[in-house]
Amino acid sequence: MNNIEIIYVEEIDENQQKKDKIITTNPGKTILEISLENHIPHAHACGGNAKCSTCRVMIISGMENLSEPSIIENHLAQKKGFGRNIRLACQTKSLWKYKNKTSCKR
Ligand code: FES
Repeated sequence: MNNIEIIYVEEIDENQQKKDKIITTNPGKTILEISLENHIPHAHACGGNAKCSTCRVMIISGMENLSEPSIIENHLAQKKGFGRNIRLACQTKSLWKYKNKTSCKR
């Protein structure tokens, strides 16, 4: 199975500088799982159940590499007025499709 890259745009590094952080991982995990596995602080107040939206990320590029929003994610996005590029990290899985890079900003 091919690896994919998730690029976290403008993460704050140990020197308090903004810097992109690139994580290489396997497809099939949610963005929240990838964050937590890689010690990237990521709010998730409802525990990943698509109820709070604290995990939301803005997708900068590579939307085609991500799973489609589920009914429950669409419902919350509509309620909150999120645009199509705002996704719940707990519901959004990385897929390996056309490109293998996705960029997001927390
Ligand atoms: S953790 Fe609550 S919506 Fe994702």
